[in-house]
Amino acid sequence: MLPQTLFSTFLLLNTYFFQFAIAQTCPPPPTCPPLSPPPRPTRTVTYVRPRPPLYNPSLRLLPRQPNSNPGPLANRARILSITQELKRNITYDPQNYTGTWVGNNYCLFKGYICDTVPDRNITGLAGIDFNGARFGGNLNFYRFITNLPDLAIFHANSNNFSGVINQGLNGLRYFYEIDLSNNKFMGGFPSNVLGATNLTFVDLRFNKYLGPVPRSLFNFDTDVLFINNNVFSRIIPPNFGNTPALYLTLANNNFTGTIPRSIGAAWETMTEVLFLGNKLSGCLPFEIGYLNRTTVFDVGSNRLTGPIPQSFGCMARLQLLNMAHNKFYGPIPEVLCRLPRAFNFTLSNNYFTQVGPQCRRLIRLRRLNVNRNCIMGLPNQRSTADCGRFFARPRTCARESTFSVIPCRLPAASLRTRTVSQEDEVPPAPRSYNALVKPPH
Ligand SMILES: *[C@@H]1O[C@H](CO)[C@@H](O)[C@H](O)[C@H]1NC(C)=O
Ligand SMILES: *[C@@H]1O[C@H](CO)[C@@H](O)[C@H](O)[C@H]1NC(C)=O
Ligand SMILES: *[C@@H]1O[C@H](CO)[C@@H](O)[C@H](O)[C@H]1NC(C)=O
Ligand SMILES: *[C@@H]1O[C@H](CO)[C@@H](O)[C@H](O)[C@H]1NC(C)=O
Ligand SMILES: *[C@@H]1O[C@H](CO)[C@@H](O)[C@H](O)[C@H]1NC(C)=O
Ligand SMILES: *[C@@H]1O[C@H](CO)[C@@H](O)[C@H](O)[C@H]1NC(C)=O
Ligand SMILES: *[C@@H]1O[C@H](CO)[C@@H](O)[C@H](O)[C@H]1NC(C)=O
Ligand SMILES: *[C@@H]1O[C@H](CO)[C@@H](O)[C@H](O)[C@H]1NC(C)=O
Repeated sequence: MLPQTLFSTFLLLNTYFFQFAIAQTCPPPPTCPPLSPPPRPTRTVTYVRPRPPLYNPSLRLLPRQPNSNPGPLANRARILSITQELKRNITYDPQNYTGTWVGNNYCLFKGYICDTVPDRNITGLAGIDFNGARFGGNLNFYRFITNLPDLAIFHANSNNFSGVINQGLNGLRYFYEIDLSNNKFMGGFPSNVLGATNLTFVDLRFNKYLGPVPRSLFNFDTDVLFINNNVFSRIIPPNFGNTPALYLTLANNNFTGTIPRSIGAAWETMTEVLFLGNKLSGCLPFEIGYLNRTTVFDVGSNRLTGPIPQSFGCMARLQLLNMAHNKFYGPIPEVLCRLPRAFNFTLSNNYFTQVGPQCRRLIRLRRLNVNRNCIMGLPNQRSTADCGRFFARPRTCARESTFSVIPCRLPAASLRTRTVSQEDEVPPAPRSYNALVKPPH
């Protein structure tokens, strides 16, 4: 009795499995893609990165001195001089930062953060926090920062900094965090920022940068890479998957071409990735399915097409999936709807044609949105004429056989019906979507 039940369950699963697969046959190796994960990218350099607190505490330095009595100050004359130059250039200072930039003790200046400089073991300027200061005037970022040699963090979103970053920032030996979002930078990608090889947080959102991003950006060792809401264009370089960043936002630029196959190589690190709002085209590489630590995957509002690869069933931690407003088609794979952490899967405004029982269950739970597709029998679908026009043209993808590849043992939970507690689980808010909100100016 029992083996019989197991066997029929197995059959049932297999039926669902293959019923919705696009290409059911895969020629034998070497044409068949390998099922082992793609090789880890070889990182050219390994960096020792200072982490918060500002400088590495294991150095056993003097404790941070009180700002009112910091003792001798590192680079005092140089920092006071560049501060006065910046102050002269600031024509608008609604929060009166510059009113406090008087005297010889820069630790008391508003926006200046002091700490013990590791290699000098005296107090120095470790951080700048001008976030939201809304300074006006002609402010030269590069000239300012290169005169702050002990700096670890520079936060200056929503100001009027501009200017060319015309040489590397590698004179800043402790620098690890840069936020220049919502300033007035323009021109090509500031490759010289990549000279600051210890950066762990690179935020260039909401500027007016144009043109291609260099390959070196994705060999650059950083945890956070926010370049959304600029006018970057051309392709996403093929070494994209080399990036060790956990959080990446490429959203709302002008990128074209396909999502690079190398993306699968980032499976150890990639946690949230937003391609939303570009002009990406072509079919999805099945290698996306290697991303089993990714919680947020967003390719909404592009020109992507093709079916959803069955490999998406391997994205065991996926919570938020947005593929809306593209030209995807075909059946929605049941393996996708079995993912144990599915929380908000938005597939609306495409040309999908079928949903199976697992996907119908997610629709009922309001976790899957398939509005405005071509799924017969469901409400809120496109008109027959609209669908007819779309499918009148033959639609194919390169590497068709890879769409049925499942490069993992499917997560166990995905083969079971989810428990009630899992259904109630609300995942933590993703970090990357906040990056799409413009810092207040
Ligand atoms: C994620 O994928 C890698 C490589 O494909 C595999 O070794 C690892 O066990 C997977 N982890 C989970 C949680 O599935
Ligand atoms: C820093 O200076 C203090 C006091 O002079 C000393 O005790 C400590 O050992 C110094 N630390 C280093 C790493 O030189
Ligand atoms: C700015 O702050 C300084 C020092 O706190 C104060 O003396 C000055 O009056 C302030 N200026 C304005 C315009 O509020
Ligand atoms: C911002 O800087 C630019 C020069 O980069 C200048 O033309 C403009 O007037 C400045 N805007 C404000 C509000 O100060
Ligand atoms: C201040 O303005 C002058 C003249 O425009 C410019 O050469 C200089 O680089 C600016 N310095 C800073 C720190 O903004
Ligand atoms: C990066 O940090 C290491 C270790 O703190 C340091 O030796 C190196 O000079 C730094 N690199 C740059 C470009 O500042
Ligand atoms: C985006 O790129 C296309 C060509 O790929 C170009 O025609 C268009 O002007 C670009 N848009 C902007 C805002 O630069
Ligand atoms: C689900 O995701 C879509 C697309 O990212 C978003 O527009 C929508 O607000 C989300 N819904 C919920 C309930 O979070």
